[in-house]
Amino acid sequence: MGQHVLIKDLLAHAGEEVTVKGWLYNQRTSGKIKFLIVRDGTGLVQCVLNKKEHPTLFNLAEETSQESAVIVTGKVHPEHRAPGGAELHLTGLEVVSLAQPYPISLKEHGVDFLIDRRHLWIRTPRQAAILRIRSSVEMACREFLHDRGFVLADAPIITPAACEGTTTLFEIDYHGDKAYLSQSGQLYNEATAMALGRVYCFGPTFRAEKSKTRRHLMEFWMLEVEAAYFDFEDNLKLQEELVYHLVQTVLNRHRSDLQLLGRDISKLEAVTLPFPRLSYNDAVNLLKEKGFEFNPGDDFGAPHETAISEQFTSPVFVHRFPTSIKAFYMQPDPQNPDVVLGADLLAPEGYGEIIGGGQRIDSLELIEERIKEHNLPRESFEWYLDLRRYGTVPHSGFGLGLERTLAWLCGLEHVRESIPFPRMLYRIYP
Ligand code: 4AD
Ligand code: MG
Repeated sequence: MGQHVLIKDLLAHAGEEVTVKGWLYNQRTSGKIKFLIVRDGTGLVQCVLNKKEHPTLFNLAEETSQESAVIVTGKVHPEHRAPGGAELHLTGLEVVSLAQPYPISLKEHGVDFLIDRRHLWIRTPRQAAILRIRSSVEMACREFLHDRGFVLADAPIITPAACEGTTTLFEIDYHGDKAYLSQSGQLYNEATAMALGRVYCFGPTFRAEKSKTRRHLMEFWMLEVEAAYFDFEDNLKLQEELVYHLVQTVLNRHRSDLQLLGRDISKLEAVTLPFPRLSYNDAVNLLKEKGFEFNPGDDFGAPHETAISEQFTSPVFVHRFPTSIKAFYMQPDPQNPDVVLGADLLAPEGYGEIIGGGQRIDSLELIEERIKEHNLPRESFEWYLDLRRYGTVPHSGFGLGLERTLAWLCGLEHVRESIPFPRMLYRIYP
């Protein structure tokens, strides 16, 4: 038995006899030759089995069902037509466990069928590729911020108050008191930023949105960044550099995964710095030119975001939204207090908003006023007011939605494929 090698590393072992440990994805027979497709989580490899040379193995393979756990041994042959660029000429086959008839066959299945079997669906090459990209993107977010001196300061998940409005809170019973699953770690980031300067948190966030769209999950992961003494401009610059870095990471490390997904790679290669910027007013004018009926002052819906982003090949910032449609903590623009120093970053190709952020109100009086206007329970925010009482400074931050970013990078139709176990409206199984 040769050395245990991961499928992704096979090419480096050309000519050697190696062992691969995984599962049987598929097999077909062509006369006296069998082609076994084995997967191990890092990729797929085609294993060639000759009946004449290995009659016992050939018969064993014949009885080995899809998704049986197998350990195969063979010599690595470079084969540029094979996925991964290498083939294994089998000399050994061990069946670790025989699988029962597998519910997900290799033909097309409907999404409802697949999503009910998400625990198995993730084994298919396409889903595995997406999850590998997700892992790299998470790592790249952390590396990028770590390299720039940002400190990871995790925010709590159980919280006493709303950050992004009270309509999408998941309420829980906290030993007899009302508590909520966090919608955003931002308010806590503001506190840790005053302690550590530049911080981020990266965790699950929750929105009880009654929306059944391609872009909404009830539970999603958000990278949230906050920096003291960062103004609106510093904040935009950091966002575009981060997103550019994520694009480059995926292009550099996941070209074959992107190909497997059928992603149009040229669309990602077309992303360049700096990202275009459009004020809310410019965006409204653009929509009107394109024939949309739009009431100035309203928030954008998905069709509007798509129409705006279609104008550009890179993500586009829309900034200075009307104060009335944005969260309570947004700093008004000193040039025009009717708009805020907030910006959304819209992904190209109609993938919608991937980042929301901006400069925060640093004045105690103004933040008190806003808490009142938004009918937020002041008691729950006393600690947050302390941040304005003791050494308040201009500060800014943003939150990047991981699943929407992945949907764009991978070219997915729906965010449900971008997370191992999606939580969607009325769907919590498995
Ligand atoms: O724009 P949002 O609501 O911003 C905040 O929560 C800020 N407090 C973040 C901050 O400044 N620290 O959400 C940020 C991003 C959105 O741009 C979107 O990408 C994603 O989170 N997002 C969702 N993703 C999936 N499903 C949902 N229901 C989402 N809601 C927001
Ligand atoms: Mg937003």
